[in-house]
Amino acid sequence: MTDGRSILVVGSSNMDLVVKINKFPLPGETLLGGDFFMNSGGKGANQAIAVSRLGGDVQFVCKTGRDAFRDKTVSLFKEEGIDTRGMLVDEEKPSGVAVIMVDKSGENSIVVAPGANSSLCVSDIDNLDIKWEFVDFVLLQLEIPIETVAHIVNLASEKGKKVILNPAPAADLPEDLFRKLHIITPNKIEAESISGVKITDNESLVKAAEVLHGLGVEHVIITLGSEGVLLYSGTPKWIPAIPTISVDSTGAGDVFNAALTVSLSEGKDFEEAIRFANKAASISITRFGAIPSIPHRKEIS
Ligand code: RIB
Repeated sequence: MTDGRSILVVGSSNMDLVVKINKFPLPGETLLGGDFFMNSGGKGANQAIAVSRLGGDVQFVCKTGRDAFRDKTVSLFKEEGIDTRGMLVDEEKPSGVAVIMVDKSGENSIVVAPGANSSLCVSDIDNLDIKWEFVDFVLLQLEIPIETVAHIVNLASEKGKKVILNPAPAADLPEDLFRKLHIITPNKIEAESISGVKITDNESLVKAAEVLHGLGVEHVIITLGSEGVLLYSGTPKWIPAIPTISVDSTGAGDVFNAALTVSLSEGKDFEEAIRFANKAASISITRFGAIPSIPHRKEIS
């Protein structure tokens, strides 16, 4: 799949169906929304394209249905110059779909129908021609089966590769997985759910990071949106966000994770990599959509 050093991204591919809204509907309520648009998305696909636009060489693995959503996404990846041989097909299930509402403040609400993402299985990974010898970092999220995530973590750990897990959406994880992770990057909600610590202030936030670090993860990075980032590798360090007016935060976490991985793969230290990731994410929230909002390397000073 590659000739240079690369970042392996394994994860979801969805079609994002997005409606702009004035306010989020209550249960049982019907509201008239604003503009509708449809873009390829999914945390895996977003992160793969972000790695590539930000200057990394990416190997991407996902599973879609055989349908028009797949065709659109495969065409996009080809336009972006990304190898599509790892984009597998489920002949029975449809491609994953995400129904997204975005309000005027850029806040979103997302429901994913996983479709073919849910059948990306362990044997798919074993049957693929992944060029492990070129891989330095593996970037994963949780929109594919946990057993598949755990299998890739095990393979990567056996091969001495660094794994970055973006635990989104939060899920129960096998306890022995944590000590094989180089970095975990939850947001506040995910950190609370995985650590079991109710986060109400900075003290409880650090406590949640300590719990995750105590499970064996080398570096814990909790993303806090406009409040910046907490880096915990034994002691807490706060890195501020870049003040930005958000029009749509969809995919900002994906851009952050991809940019962090690209920067670390270039040999940057953690603080520099987080600052680079903050810059990339801050650009993405000034634009609509997930993939359309991902910046290119030249946009980041
Ligand atoms: O992180 C944003 C992504 O979450 C969207 O693109 C959507 O597909 C869901 O996976």
